[in-house]
Amino acid sequence: MQILKIFIISFLTFYIGNLNASEGMWLPILLEKYTIEEMQQQGFKLSVEDIYDINNASLKDAVVGLVRLNNPFHHFCSGEVISNQGLLLTNHHCGYSQIQSHSSLENDYLTNGFWAMSKEEELTNEGIGVCFLKRMEDVTSKVLANINDAMQDVYYDSIIEANIKAIEQDAVEGTHYLAKVKPFFAGNEYYLSVYEVFRDIRLVGAPPSAIGKFGGDTDNWMWPRHTGDFSMFRIYADSNNNPADISEANVPYKPLKHLNISLNGVEKGDFTMVMGYPGTTQENLPAAAVKRLTETINPIRIKVRTKGLDIMKADMNTDPEIRIKYSAKVAGMSNGWKKWIGENRGLKKLDAIDKKLALEKEFMQWVNNDNNRKEEYGTILEQYENLYHSITPYQKAATYFYETIYSLELNDLASSFYTLTEFDKTSNSEAIEKRIKALKNTVEKHFKNYNLTTDKKLFTAFIEFYYNDISNPFHPEIFELINSKFKGNIEKFVDYIFSKSMFPDHDKINAFLNRYSISKNKSLLKDPIIILYSQAINNYRTNTYPALASFKDEVANLHKKYTKGLREFQKDKTHFPDANSTFRIAYGQIDDYKPRDAVAYFHFTTLEGIIEKDNPDIYDYDVPDKLKELYNASNFGKYSNTDGIMPVCFTASNHTTGGNSGSPILNAYGQLIGINFDRNWEGTMSDIMYDPNMCRNISLDIRYVLFIVDKFAGAKHLVDEMNLIQTTKHK
Ligand code: ARG
Ligand code: ASP
Repeated sequence: MQILKIFIISFLTFYIGNLNASEGMWLPILLEKYTIEEMQQQGFKLSVEDIYDINNASLKDAVVGLVRLNNPFHHFCSGEVISNQGLLLTNHHCGYSQIQSHSSLENDYLTNGFWAMSKEEELTNEGIGVCFLKRMEDVTSKVLANINDAMQDVYYDSIIEANIKAIEQDAVEGTHYLAKVKPFFAGNEYYLSVYEVFRDIRLVGAPPSAIGKFGGDTDNWMWPRHTGDFSMFRIYADSNNNPADISEANVPYKPLKHLNISLNGVEKGDFTMVMGYPGTTQENLPAAAVKRLTETINPIRIKVRTKGLDIMKADMNTDPEIRIKYSAKVAGMSNGWKKWIGENRGLKKLDAIDKKLALEKEFMQWVNNDNNRKEEYGTILEQYENLYHSITPYQKAATYFYETIYSLELNDLASSFYTLTEFDKTSNSEAIEKRIKALKNTVEKHFKNYNLTTDKKLFTAFIEFYYNDISNPFHPEIFELINSKFKGNIEKFVDYIFSKSMFPDHDKINAFLNRYSISKNKSLLKDPIIILYSQAINNYRTNTYPALASFKDEVANLHKKYTKGLREFQKDKTHFPDANSTFRIAYGQIDDYKPRDAVAYFHFTTLEGIIEKDNPDIYDYDVPDKLKELYNASNFGKYSNTDGIMPVCFTASNHTTGGNSGSPILNAYGQLIGINFDRNWEGTMSDIMYDPNMCRNISLDIRYVLFIVDKFAGAKHLVDEMNLIQTTKHK
């Protein structure tokens, strides 16, 4: 019996592995057609209607996208509702800027954590909201009505645009909902999403960074992982349970649905499902594009950021004040840097380019077997090749531009001052005063986290990259000084800029603002940082951008065609549309992996691993005393696993990407078992090519979350709001 079981299990794993069963981010309205059967075969116990139903409450009504209110269709993270009073769970790194904005030296919530002990203590947050998906609809035929391929591009685009606008308006007429139609399958299909967006979202709780960001950038994108990456918010609504601006009169939102929470834990092989808002994937790129990404773009990004991070980290290690000032900057720069390194390695290890080339060869054989196909797709790969070849110098320049000149803080600061030059004698003094006040604010914020010596090193290094690696037509004119005046010595050039500009100097800027009059615009325009930046931007606009813009259009046309062709060619494969910040479902199973020869990882980590990593001398691994006490006393309450061990994170094979952070990870019954927050380094190429053996999403075990809230923070009243399900018994 046992042997048979093992045989069946290994056969199944092999079978599933071969099918790439866990690849894909699916639309809720296409589950019935494509995936539900397979999901159920893999252990899912519910139906499509349990996930998505527009007439009854379903799981989708407990999942939100986190948005900035000025950009409500881009979801920077995901989250889930876990009580009937609108309690919301997401990642610590998703709520990071809100937690930071409420922090001060006296109330340092980033360092100490924050817990509202009553609803009155919950903190409002300007500018962010959460959206619930009300419904989705395939509107392809409506968008493409009165359109044909013979139409001129401009004409074609404007009709599509008008059709989309009409559909969106129609969809929300007479409601307070928002609607968005987005292209899918590279523009071969269009789907409408209708959202309800809540605008009063209050901070309820966050663990200290020593838990919520434990392991920091060192552990980021890595497994084994021990980060308690969660924070809690609450959705508020008006007295009719409708969205409202922030107001004291608002009350906790009563959701249509909130998730039940399972304390039963998970075993390897168990079915899992992730719902939320993945941002961007590009699974159908041709080899030419992957080559350009891995050989040109990623190496530039990695090279520049390696240098930038070295500079910042070296200074941070010498001075705790610099450490505080630069930690968010390092986090931002390092997140992309580390991901691109992983992506490049993963694609190489997978032989992604050769795999793509082999696919393209088969595709062309299929194309050449039929005259109509030949006409439609016959030259597509050459066209790709030519396009990517001719755009390379521009993309190189653009990548360097964004990574260096554009990312330098003083340039950013200077650009906000440039807006003063819009004022002239006719401008009204109130508008000027308002602008000056805003600029003073910007200046204070800038200098709060600024260190002149560190920044000058960054400035020098980045200008050097741009000067040496990019050819002259893309240089700002002021670079001529490097040759003529400074004999190629970039350090001297930067010395000159820093000594002549007011922007490195807090006092000089204050003096400028305090005594501002429009006559000062002349001197502003002579500031070398303003000159450098405006020339660089101008150069980008005239030399780089037009080429990139027409490339983007041409490549979009090719992608549309190629995607269509591939779907016809691979008729038997169920294709999923690339992520585009719309609601998706990924499914897979709890799974471990083998990162390299002779190494195998477990699928979960425990509190013991946190204690192992403890090192008070290393900022990222400084475990709070209280957590050590709880560990020493094995004071885990009902949250440990059946062996009395406190689980922390686990890996599974759900296909996720940026934007999926904060997504609920659910078991076969749709109960919450964790919060998704990252991927493994060996699997970050999943945005371009998914490998079922290597790609894992990393989630925080919900039992660790509840343990921290209850035992560590003493906020049991929050746990009491939730529905906990526990049927397993502790030994
Ligand atoms: N890698 C995760 C994601 O892409 C987590 C990022 C958190 N930031 C960090 N620098 N540790 O968003
Ligand atoms: N950490 C990512 C996020 O913030 C998730 C990922 O890229 O896997 O969305």
